[in-house]
Amino acid sequence: MTLSSDASTLPKKFDIVSKNGITTAVIWSVHLADIRYDERVAVITGAGGGLGRAYALHLAERGAKVVVNDIGGSAEGQGNGTHAANRVVAEIKSAGGDAVANYDSVATAKGGEHIVQTALDSFGRVDIVINNAGILRDASIPKMPQENFDELIDVHLKGAFYVTQPAFRYMKKNAYGRVVYTSSAAGLFGNFGQANYAAAKMGLVGLSSVTAIEGAKYNIKSNVIAPIARTRLTEKLMGSTGGMFAPHYIVPMVAYLVSESCQCSHDIFNVGAGRYARIFLGSTPGWTVSEDAVPSAEAVRDNLGKVLSVADFKIPEAASEV
Ligand SMILES: NC(=O)c1ccc[n+]([C@@H]2O[C@H](COP(=O)([O-])OP(=O)(O)OC[C@H]3O[C@@H](n4cnc5c(N)ncnc54)[C@H](O)[C@@H]3O)[C@@H](O)[C@H]2O)c1
Repeated sequence: MTLSSDASTLPKKFDIVSKNGITTAVIWSVHLADIRYDERVAVITGAGGGLGRAYALHLAERGAKVVVNDIGGSAEGQGNGTHAANRVVAEIKSAGGDAVANYDSVATAKGGEHIVQTALDSFGRVDIVINNAGILRDASIPKMPQENFDELIDVHLKGAFYVTQPAFRYMKKNAYGRVVYTSSAAGLFGNFGQANYAAAKMGLVGLSSVTAIEGAKYNIKSNVIAPIARTRLTEKLMGSTGGMFAPHYIVPMVAYLVSESCQCSHDIFNVGAGRYARIFLGSTPGWTVSEDAVPSAEAVRDNLGKVLSVADFKIPEAASEV
């Protein structure tokens, strides 16, 4: 796309409007300035490699000050080290950006507090949280060791809360915040052998919904991405697939969601291989019985078509709208 100083030839932007629970891009208006993050401070968890590193480099390049958090362990969550976070901070600094490393685990409340405190101590504020840290410990349900279930919930789900909570307190006072949670298609739709991962990743959708609802009046926006990219977490599965599965194809969506110009909140996006799409939770009109008629199981069976029909579904924006 070629940019021009003539407003009539500038690329256009859309506004998002919601009606009856359905969000649509409808109002076209003149293109705004390029997205930048000058004076903004971003906390990015798990930013020592993969997707988190790609976000950190991009945001720093566009003016953000970045807390590069990473425990520096293995893909299964064993071990720790400073190398991963330090390397990304060095990359940012050598490109002229500003960043600080943090090596806490997101999986404890103390760690989450300390990660956010690092932003406040180093840069005096926190505007952006990208909850990205993650590990994998796959096993089918009958074979899943209890600790693998607990550990995944601790890192992905509780970890995101432990970091977002102290940041949210600051953002609320400051009346500005952008939060992104990293889910997965495995969590949203299920994947064999990933009960622990899927449970945590779907939990993040609930966490984001409430972050969006509670944050609305403080200009705090919260969204979820379900990415697919070739990183160390997926390289066994994806082999040498490169090209459009490179992490930098995920960056533009996240970069938009954490920008001042972001108009989405309470949304979920499927991002990968050059495709940017919405995922949503909908509710169908269903089958309603009269107030005094408790139906039998047979009546439910006989009306299952109406219960399951997706015709005329809506997208509730809160539990009260279901
Ligand atoms: N790559 C994909 O296709 C894909 C698909 C769906 C979801 N995701 C999610 O995207 C996120 C990023 O994954 P990735 O693919 O870049 O993998 P990655 O392994 O390259 O990055 C994850 C990073 O998180 C760090 N980390 C792990 N536990 C931590 C903890 N307790 N505290 C702080 N840091 C910790 C790791 O050290 C690692 O650097 C994860 O949440 C993952 O579940 C990735």
